[in-house]
Amino acid sequence: MRAAFASRFDDADPLAALTVGERPEPTPPADDWVTVQLRATSLNHHDLWSLRGVGLTEAQLPMILGCDAVGLDPEGRPVVVYPVVVTPNDPRGVSILSEHFSGTLAERVAVPRSNLIPLPDGMAATDAACLPTAWLTAWRMLTTKGRVADADSVLVQGAGGGVATAAVALAVAMGKRVYATSRDAVKRDRISALGAIAVEPGARLPERVDVVIETVGAATFDHSLKSAAPMARIVVSGATAGHEPSVNLRRVFAMQLEILGTSMGTPGELYELLAFCSDNEVRPVVDSVVPFSRVEDAFARLHSGDAFGKVVIDHTA
Ligand SMILES: NC(=O)c1ccc[n+]([C@@H]2O[C@H](COP(=O)([O-])OP(=O)(O)OC[C@H]3O[C@@H](n4cnc5c(N)ncnc54)[C@H](OP(=O)(O)O)[C@@H]3O)[C@@H](O)[C@H]2O)c1
Repeated sequence: MRAAFASRFDDADPLAALTVGERPEPTPPADDWVTVQLRATSLNHHDLWSLRGVGLTEAQLPMILGCDAVGLDPEGRPVVVYPVVVTPNDPRGVSILSEHFSGTLAERVAVPRSNLIPLPDGMAATDAACLPTAWLTAWRMLTTKGRVADADSVLVQGAGGGVATAAVALAVAMGKRVYATSRDAVKRDRISALGAIAVEPGARLPERVDVVIETVGAATFDHSLKSAAPMARIVVSGATAGHEPSVNLRRVFAMQLEILGTSMGTPGELYELLAFCSDNEVRPVVDSVVPFSRVEDAFARLHSGDAFGKVVIDHTA
């Protein structure tokens, strides 16, 4: 079957490490796994990290990339794939598809049957394919970790990214005052259109916020600390611009800040997210939909840094 996979690692030029070509059909490793026929997937920064060699070893190559998926189960029913799989030999106890088990950028993928969630009625496969990784991460950052129900205001750093646009759209739909930073004036205009107050990175906000959504890291972390209200939660799920910021500990203890790390979410949280989007007619921010036959273009778009929202792959086109 046709697949997009990492055939080697290239830290400086991850696109050069991407191969599109034939791979063997998936072989379910246990009786409770099934094969899903893919209909739509979406890219994540995770796929670029994999091509750079972050989280994979040479021994795991070639590795089919892709975490997100919507497809048809063996009975032909449309399903959303929850991408976290129990993995006893990983120190986390789990892994995301494309780490230990083949990913979703292929014609078919094998997953545990218990990872399949019915696609909500009325939701397009290309929209639902955005939800299981970036949107699930943003949902858990806001709800379980950020306790946004107790918050009036939220700051989202690096507003153009998949997690960041999800956090803005969800927090606005929850009725919060949302501030969002972006280096790019066009992205600031687009994030304003989603209902956020867009500002330049590092700008002083009119108020200190209760929850900060951090995926940028070193470039924005000091601003996140300075923008946080007493008892605020700074929730971190990524570090695109560096993972070793300097942290003013005086501010952390004096303002009684909570810095919380998180990764992905639970199956229950994915059910909640799907229901929230369905009930409130919230749909993901989609940068572009690219046919699977041009998957290399989708990677180039993500790598360019110009994308606003999710880059989606249509496997039916
Ligand atoms: N832990 C998890 O479960 C999980 C899940 C999904 C993603 N992640 C991580 O979260 C991060 C975000 O991923 P993503 O796919 O949403 O988006 P992304 O493509 O990594 O982009 C995030 C945003 O970061 C900002 N940014 C990048 N470099 C910057 C710099 N040098 N200075 C200031 N801002 C910068 C950009 O914002 P502007 O251009 O708007 O300024 C960009 O839109 C990644 O590191 C990813 O690995 C983690």
